[in-house]
Amino acid sequence: MRKKIVAGNWKMNLDYAEGVSLFSEIVNMIRDEQKGTQVAVICAPYIHLNSLAKLGGTTVKIGAQNCHQNESGAFTGEISAKMIQSVGCEYVIIGHSERRQYFAESDALLLEKTNIALKNNLTPIFCIGETLDERNNGSYFDVIKSQLTHGVFALSAADFAKVVLAYEPVWAIGTGLTASSAQAQEVHAFIRNEIAVQYGAEVAENTSILYGGSCNPKNAAELFAQNDIDGGLIGGASLKSRDFADIVKTFNS
Ligand code: PGA
Repeated sequence: MRKKIVAGNWKMNLDYAEGVSLFSEIVNMIRDEQKGTQVAVICAPYIHLNSLAKLGGTTVKIGAQNCHQNESGAFTGEISAKMIQSVGCEYVIIGHSERRQYFAESDALLLEKTNIALKNNLTPIFCIGETLDERNNGSYFDVIKSQLTHGVFALSAADFAKVVLAYEPVWAIGTGLTASSAQAQEVHAFIRNEIAVQYGAEVAENTSILYGGSCNPKNAAELFAQNDIDGGLIGGASLKSRDFADIVKTFNS
């Protein structure tokens, strides 16, 4: 059975003390909430990872927001998947639209990052999604299919089975514009079908596909109730302990 995941993405926010404080609040609020196949994750800036992994215990798993595509070497300022794993992280976001847009990360590069993450026992949360133009001109299915084909679909079935996908329409990220539950479900069903074509029905059935883009405590329940939506990747609302905890609790309501 596929995992239900609520993953926070703190982006480039919170100094050290602020991060520890927010994280401690979140842990206290959801300590007894996780059930069965449900997982809560916080993807934090690198400086927080070591401390949060120790504070999170079994309640909240920790992820990074990026990793370098090489194992090690002369790449000043970069962080490797092995380093991330070595401080107790279990997840890493790969291919967030902000990385694609501001750091020109290509599908080919993201495939390399996914491979190195998997090699180091990190679960990639691989992001895909269309821009507003692509939504409006109707090419969004093609865009998403292309991101899958040139990104994660180059993996073996065994490796792909370890990947979590996140559908994040770029027009909904940080804008307050959420995809309607019907719009999101339509794309999630499309993605799951593409996985079935590529890897077979069983792999498709077991892949967690998260929704991201202005997800909040008010809209989470309806989004997560959709057949093919297995949780969320939460930006802004993950910076407020009450909001993030309420989104996690949505699974139990
Ligand atoms: P948002 O961000 O929830 O603030 O829209 C989501 C994301 O970028 O992962």
